[in-house]
Amino acid sequence: MEQQAQFQQYVHEVMEWGKQLREEGSADVEELLVRLKQHEGEWSEEEIYDIQMTVDVLYEKAMQLFQERNEQMTGQTEESTSEKVEWQTQFQQYVHEVTEWGKQLAQQSGARGEVEDFLVRLAQHEGEWTEEAICEIQGMADALYERALQLYQTEEELEEKTADVTDEAIDEEMLRQEHDRISAGGHTLPPLPYRYDALEPHISGEMMQLHHTKHHQSYVDGLNKAEKMMQKARETNDYELLTHWEREAAFHGSGHYLHTIFWYNMTPKGGGEPQGALLEQIKADFGSIARFKQHFTEAAKKVEGVGWALLVWSPRAHRLEILQTEKHQFMTQWDTIPLLVLDVWEHAYYLQYKNDRAAYINSWWNVVNWRDVERRFEQASKLRWKAF
Ligand SMILES: [Fe+2]
Repeated sequence: MEQQAQFQQYVHEVMEWGKQLREEGSADVEELLVRLKQHEGEWSEEEIYDIQMTVDVLYEKAMQLFQERNEQMTGQTEESTSEKVEWQTQFQQYVHEVTEWGKQLAQQSGARGEVEDFLVRLAQHEGEWTEEAICEIQGMADALYERALQLYQTEEELEEKTADVTDEAIDEEMLRQEHDRISAGGHTLPPLPYRYDALEPHISGEMMQLHHTKHHQSYVDGLNKAEKMMQKARETNDYELLTHWEREAAFHGSGHYLHTIFWYNMTPKGGGEPQGALLEQIKADFGSIARFKQHFTEAAKKVEGVGWALLVWSPRAHRLEILQTEKHQFMTQWDTIPLLVLDVWEHAYYLQYKNDRAAYINSWWNVVNWRDVERRFEQASKLRWKAF
């Protein structure tokens, strides 16, 4: 049975790979795809062998095709010239953006001297960008960015130390407990920061009570159970049911974290418009509050089936975005930040490892950049909400 399930998984992966191959112009793959699609019932040993042989042949052909194309690409100087032009244009665009950023930085920060050197270097450049020049510019930009971050953090720390802790009870509670750590299976239902009927007439007390005490509580219970079971798996080295518990942790975890945000996102004294930095950011990213609200409303209305609409901040793009999530559990926990990620799509390993994903994963550990993961952790771990 297990072998059948494994082979079925292999068939599934081969079909995905075959479809990609077909898109790239391989004519031979069609027959295999039809055969896999039309198969019913169990796979016999002969069939398994036969399929694997066919895949091997196709794989060899795909490799040849790939190599031929590579050779063609390197031979096509015309094409590479147009690529080069495009590349130069792209870097010019980067230079333009980095210049704008540099000007802003020069106004705000204590690193004015360094920023000015950088701006002068950019302004004085003429002609094409060589690889060395690009490296130099990127190195300078990275160093400046680090410096700006340091300055920014020092400013923030100073502000934190001097600010009145807060006059709002909720904020105070949030700050007081920000260093709590929830151990595996130790989540609790957060109390609502207002009475159940406080949001009436917009949201009825009865509905709030049910939503909070039944639905949210069941997410908390489910998450605790999943975390404990995963902890047990680590202790016993028995990962047979891991995917099930990961799925449970994603479903209940997202449920718990999103509802926690949701309760605090509402207040009886709510409505109106945001202010300050958020207002400016919304205007910059969506045009106006009205446009933002329209987009968010449409996103919420159009969620297929069950789910959420979310306004999110992208630490990568440095801007706001509106997202939908159908259900919420597709093996993720919203409100978490990825630190270390491994691509296990076939395109990441198939050319070299064929279907041996495990070999790819084992080798991959040799190239993990822990310094980068450390940097991401250092930044991400500064963000702490009150623990539940
Ligand atoms: Fe809900």
